[in-house]
Amino acid sequence: MATINSNYLKLKAGYLFPEIARRVNAYAEANPDAKIIRLGIGDVTEPLPEACRAAMTLAVQDMGDRASFKGYGPEQGYAWLREKIAAHDFQARGCAIDASEIFISDGSKCDCGNILDIFGHDNAIAVTDPVYPVYVDTNVMAGNTGEMNDKGEYGGLVYLPISAENDFVAEIPSEKVDLIYLCFPNNPTGATATKEYLKAWVDYAKSHGSIIFFDAAYEAFITDPELPHSIYEIEGARDCAIEFRSFSKNAGFTGTRCALTVVPNTLTAKASDGSDVELWKLWNRRQSTKFNGVSYIVQRGAEAVYSEAGQAQIKALIGFYMENAKIIREQLTAAGLAVYGGINAPYVWVKTPNGLSSWDFFDKLLQTVNVVGTPGSGFGAAGEGYFRISAFNSRENVEEAMKRILDKLK
Ligand code: MLT
Repeated sequence: MATINSNYLKLKAGYLFPEIARRVNAYAEANPDAKIIRLGIGDVTEPLPEACRAAMTLAVQDMGDRASFKGYGPEQGYAWLREKIAAHDFQARGCAIDASEIFISDGSKCDCGNILDIFGHDNAIAVTDPVYPVYVDTNVMAGNTGEMNDKGEYGGLVYLPISAENDFVAEIPSEKVDLIYLCFPNNPTGATATKEYLKAWVDYAKSHGSIIFFDAAYEAFITDPELPHSIYEIEGARDCAIEFRSFSKNAGFTGTRCALTVVPNTLTAKASDGSDVELWKLWNRRQSTKFNGVSYIVQRGAEAVYSEAGQAQIKALIGFYMENAKIIREQLTAAGLAVYGGINAPYVWVKTPNGLSSWDFFDKLLQTVNVVGTPGSGFGAAGEGYFRISAFNSRENVEEAMKRILDKLK
């Protein structure tokens, strides 16, 4: 008899965003005239930059000609894309990252889960609470946790609470943890990390032999010039951090799929015999075996992000969403809500009014004003009483959603 990976049975609810979609779809079916505005999942709405579309169109033509046709590409991604990323995203910021340390993939979400393939099951793992649920759920699936308790916390994980009291940045733990997930600008709270704060984590990781998983999927939304975009801006990070980045949010690639993971070749972790093993080699081995690369066409589209036109177009796109974030922040603040984030991140994190639970506020907004957000409790127990609103939508929808919410809260 075939058996299952019973770790999956520890997952008590469906993945957060499909669960929200299920509830919204049920409401929409029962109320076909409702004009629902979706500010829940952080999914982009605006067209792909012209430079990316033009590059992909040319790439399609390449595929139609025997001389320029491409079969399997390198599992790590094409060198011309990796070199542009290394130069523009890292070396230009003083980060000593080489193109050979960059692995192109089809998504940061996938890589955040896949990275666990190269780590043991006996690591102490720290996540913030609230947190992007992929970090937790993929550890549950990998068998790195115990069961979930009544608070919704999994045994074996170290939860680092973040709240308004600590400006949504976790305190460095007093205990030893081996793997640490950090996401800045933060999903879901929109909080940011200073260089000093990241330096404290790098020092911690180096002194404990820990590895930091640094999710920088939203770095392009940073508006404060003092804030670091990459953990490699911090001295010593090459020896303790893996960084995840994505074209999903900065260039509108959520449906096109392209991302990257940086594994410095100086990074090591322990084998069971106590010897140091290079993580780059393991990740390269993993990707070469389980992944055949991102399509040539899509990588050409991603490469165009680094052209002069591409840079101007993504800047406009990011600016557009950040103007949405500003509108959301200002309107909800004017309505008397406690509002966080939305300045260096496309997410606005709101305290629910009148002590409503996250899901009660979700239901109230859905049913009374037909606006969808994301319940804070879906990101962890400490997210209870909060609500996330995404700035990814048209201006018209954002303005209409704010008008409806404000009318209701008056
Ligand atoms: C979110 O809404 O949190 C994002 O869409 C998650 C993701 O990028 O996977």
